[in-house]
Order: sequence, then structure tokens, then C-alpha cells
Amino acid sequence: MTVALAFDIYGTLIDPHGVVDELEKHLGEGAQAFSNIWRDKQLEYTWRRGLMGRYENFPVCTRQALDYTDSLMQTHLDESMKAALMQVYRVLPAYDDVPESLQALKDAGFRLFGFSNGVADAVQGLLEHAGIDSFFDGVVSVDALQTFKPDPKVYRHVVEVMGSDIENCWLVSSNGFDVIGAVSSGMKAAWLKRFSGVVFDPWGIEPTLEIHGLDELPQKIPS
Ligand code: 2OP
Repeated sequence: MTVALAFDIYGTLIDPHGVVDELEKHLGEGAQAFSNIWRDKQLEYTWRRGLMGRYENFPVCTRQALDYTDSLMQTHLDESMKAALMQVYRVLPAYDDVPESLQALKDAGFRLFGFSNGVADAVQGLLEHAGIDSFFDGVVSVDALQTFKPDPKVYRHVVEVMGSDIENCWLVSSNGFDVIGAVSSGMKAAWLKRFSGVVFDPWGIEPTLEIHGLDELPQKIPS
């Protein structure tokens, strides 16, 4: 049975802070701080909506988090600036190590899936824009279940779609909450520590594997 890898999208393959250049046009030096709050709030909204059973899709969470951040930072972005930022969100860049690492994994015989809070057409668009869509056997979105990571339902769903035994199903994610969600649901999970200062949540639920670049995967996961 081939090993199936479910790749988280935002923060793992695709850089959500790819909006900083567009933000800099309006905010100058405050752009990175704005982007950080926007991303944190976007995730918070997914968790809260999941807990409350008040699902709205990821683009709605992203747009509402943008409005919140604009109000908090008193940046007074007008509607056209916000629309431009939401448009950039659809063409965010992949991290540099992504194309080569996916090629190596494909060559080694792994089956690859995108697995995201994002809606399927947006995720597919990002993979196409980055020129990496051909590496994937499928895209799995939580949107099909109307809830968000780390609801155990979404991990059961991705395992089902990937069609391998659960011991051959891995999540690859830089998002600690995602890794803990997958391991807690019985999957294996590689935590990609993209930046040195990042800390893994001390919950006593550890990643199966910790990596510092996607290029480490073919050696560290038995195919
Ligand atoms: C994703 O699901 C969690 O943003 C992350 O793509």
C-alpha cells in the first residue's frame, strides 16, 4: 500500500505572508505586523466558527479577519484596497523548497494530496499558479464537511479520501495545531518547523517527525 501524504496549504506549501508586498504599498513598515495579526485572526475565526457550529467558509473568515485587522490597526483601507488584498490571497506564492521537494517525493512513489481549510477552487488555483498542481493526486477541503481543522472529522475525511490504511497516511504541516489534530486522530504527522523561533504546543501530543525543510521528507518517511 503506497504512503499518502496530505500537505497543509497555507503556511506549509503556500506563504500566507505573500500579501506583505501589497500591504507595504499602503502601510509601509506596518505591513508585516498587519499580516501577522490578519493571519492569526483568520485562524481564530475558523476555530471559533468550528466550535460554535457557525460555519462560514475560509474566504469569509479571511475577509472578516481583514476587516478586523484594519479596524484594530486603524489603517483605513478602502474597499478597493481590501479587494486587491483578497485578490493577492488567490495568487500567494509557494515557498522556495516546494517544487523540488514535491518532485522528489513523487519520484520516490508517494501519493500527494493538498489538504486545507481553504475552499477547493482557491487551493487548486494556488497550486496551479505556483506550477505545482501536477504533483497532486487530489485536493481535499474541509469545506465538504462545513467545519475546520482541527475537528477530528476532517482528519477522518482526508484518510478516507486518500484511500490508504491510516498507518500509511501522513499529514505534513507547519501548523502545530494541525499536527496535533492529525496525531490525535490516529494519523502520522510531520511538523515542518519553517522558522527557528517557532515553538510546538506542549500538550504531550508530539509530531511523528520534525523536519526543518520539505527536502528532508523523502529520506525520513519510508515510502
Ligand atoms: C490550511 O488548512 C491551516 O491554513 C491552514 O491550509
